[in-house]
Amino acid sequence: MAQFRKIGILSSGGDAPGMNAAIRAVTRRALSQGIEVVGILGGYAGLIGAADESDPEIVKQQYLRPLDSHSVSNIVTRGGTILYSSRCPEFATPEGMDKALKTCHDYEIDAVIAIGGDGTFRGATDLTNHGIPSIGIPGTIDNDITATEQTIGFDSALNTTLHMIDDLRDTAESHARCIVTEVMGNGCGYLALYSGIASGAITIAIPEIPFDEEYAIRKIHNARKAGKRGMIAICGEGLPTASGRPYGEEFKEKLIEATGIDTRFNKIGHIIRGGNPTLRDRLTATQMGVEAVNNLLQGRSNVVMCVNENRITAVDINFALALDKMYKNTLKDGDLEGFTSYQIAQMKARCEFRSSKFERFYNMSYDICM
Ligand code: F6P
Repeated sequence: MAQFRKIGILSSGGDAPGMNAAIRAVTRRALSQGIEVVGILGGYAGLIGAADESDPEIVKQQYLRPLDSHSVSNIVTRGGTILYSSRCPEFATPEGMDKALKTCHDYEIDAVIAIGGDGTFRGATDLTNHGIPSIGIPGTIDNDITATEQTIGFDSALNTTLHMIDDLRDTAESHARCIVTEVMGNGCGYLALYSGIASGAITIAIPEIPFDEEYAIRKIHNARKAGKRGMIAICGEGLPTASGRPYGEEFKEKLIEATGIDTRFNKIGHIIRGGNPTLRDRLTATQMGVEAVNNLLQGRSNVVMCVNENRITAVDINFALALDKMYKNTLKDGDLEGFTSYQIAQMKARCEFRSSKFERFYNMSYDICM
């Protein structure tokens, strides 16, 4: 069993409901094994900030908060993150890393568990490479981490989105309007696709799959001619447009021009990052938090906790990051260097599985949404 005196835990990038449940699980599991826990405030920026501060009280208040069992009481139900979050470009610089290492040294932080998305995992792998074993936990509403079927926050954000679309439908129906609704997702269409199907949207446009705009306009027009009053057209955040304006706004204008249907544009944004986490997110976050500590104790680091086929697994971070690039078609020369042909084949199979499942859902929406 690997020995640790103290581990640090942080949340980084966009916050997501369920992060607190993971913080609680990591803290209590570590404490149960006799390991101290410190909450690093504001993500990687907290590790950097503590290096420059000499007053221990300020360090405790602003950067490094010791966590005991009581300090994580009653947070499993809460959205946001009690450790706060930020995006910290300085951490990717040699100076930033030096400061982070100084903090770990000065405050005897032997290992770090980092909750967030791919940027967070890059930070965790950098720390591991500099001698601080680190583990990632996927926390982002976007569900855009290819190595895992579910990220913490996705299910909660999805349910919040669904409720909001249901509410939009009420007013769409009363006024016989089409409401074109953009759903957050940073270029990843999971939130838009799943909420669109579950809310009965008439069309769904997502960044991953070419959208037949004319067909969609015809479909909406025909539905109106057949007597349908309220309609919801969903589009994912990050659909490219020549003008740089949101795609949904442009679609709304085209729809009005082609059909004369009274149409509004609406955006579902940061509101879905808040709110109480769902049961599913709380359970997954708890399992991942416990397993992250268990992995550290077993001497394993530089992994990200994933859930695939209902099992929590630890996937090598470098593998997860390369897999992500493969899935998103952003691989550059040399990105696959160091991986065996078996690993590359595994990545391809994973991409194939994920995209075919995604496409099946999308195709289903063609027949079902009308
Ligand atoms: O990654 C989560 C996310 O909410 C995306 O869906 C969105 O594009 C982005 O973060 C918004 O970032 P910010 O909170 O910095 O505006």
